[in-house]
Amino acid sequence: MHLHNMLNEETMTTNNILFSAYQLNTHLTLKNRIVMAPMTRVNATDDHIPTQPMIDYYARRADAGLIITEGTIISQDALGHKRVPGIFNHAQVAEWKKVSDAVHANNGLIFMQIWHVGRVSHPDLLNGRLPVSASETMMSGKVNRSDHLTYGKSRAASLEEIKSLIAAYATAARNAVEAGFDGVEIHGANGYLIDQFLHHDTNKRDDNYGGSPDNMARFALEVVKACGEVIGYERVGLRLSPGAYLNEITGDERDANTFQYLLEQLNQLPIAYVHTGNFNDQQQFKELHGLSMTAFIRMHYKGTVIASGSYTAERAQEGIEQGMFDLVAIGRPFIANPDLITRLRTHAELVNYDASMLRTLY
Ligand SMILES: Cc1cc2nc3c(=O)[nH]c(=O)nc-3n(C[C@H](O)[C@H](O)[C@H](O)COP(=O)(O)O)c2cc1C
Repeated sequence: MHLHNMLNEETMTTNNILFSAYQLNTHLTLKNRIVMAPMTRVNATDDHIPTQPMIDYYARRADAGLIITEGTIISQDALGHKRVPGIFNHAQVAEWKKVSDAVHANNGLIFMQIWHVGRVSHPDLLNGRLPVSASETMMSGKVNRSDHLTYGKSRAASLEEIKSLIAAYATAARNAVEAGFDGVEIHGANGYLIDQFLHHDTNKRDDNYGGSPDNMARFALEVVKACGEVIGYERVGLRLSPGAYLNEITGDERDANTFQYLLEQLNQLPIAYVHTGNFNDQQQFKELHGLSMTAFIRMHYKGTVIASGSYTAERAQEGIEQGMFDLVAIGRPFIANPDLITRLRTHAELVNYDASMLRTLY
């Protein structure tokens, strides 16, 4: 009976595409199809330097096919949360090196998610300056769920500032590689700076960066190209949210044209992947012609697609087998189960995620 079960388990595991290797490109092969999703954990120092608990936290999860770190700010001005890590000075690079070393020592791969929040910030976090965005807009929610700060007005980036923002992304990418990372994921999702350029609700510009699909996609593409030229395109991934769902962006019927154009342009560049930024990928969006975000990305993008958003192992396996996406990113279950890969492989029960788990960094 026992032997029979073991054999059964062995067969199931071998046949499960989730545990098969995946060649991302000539530089990178993932040992399985399960990616650890980027998750902000606010455990860096006040100077945005990674800490020992972060090193241990990522090292413990190195059996994921690929780890994507929490959003890591590209400059002091990119800040929207206290105690998130950064990648814009030597001290940060030195401590991040310990993270990548620890993950590599455990035979893992790790990309750094590089992040600028744009308007999702507050003058109190920015030395009194208004947050920068594509356009002047208003946000109303609470900053960091804090009870005393409320989001407010943003200012439109000047053309000169756009140039320096692009340069800051490229420098962050170079720093990440210097810190031993296998690549970067550009955070173009979830209503942050790049996404603010991509949606009509937040981009009201009438210059080269607004108004038409090619203009609205320009900033995202320039960031991708700047990073690709510096560290190699095969080490650059991009996270996108074609459907508006977070940080007070309202969807617009015209958004689909912008994202279609962007994805078609990305087909011309040998980047590592496009990753859906979403909490529930079963959601269908009116502005995406009734498709889910991943289905929309898959329709227009020919390279590697990472799905994410409330996936179970069963639905991920099914989606990959049916060709709906190539890899799955798992977020909250990875917080609750540092040994998620082993548990899935052996069909062990999973610990349920609970928001109270965010208080510690196990
Ligand atoms: C605590 C927490 C922090 C997150 N921080 C980030 C982040 O820094 N960058 C990002 O792109 N997504 C972030 N996300 C979204 C996740 O990457 C993922 O898309 C989401 O949790 C859905 O996947 P899941 O259902 O498997 O958890 C965060 C999610 C959680 C729960």
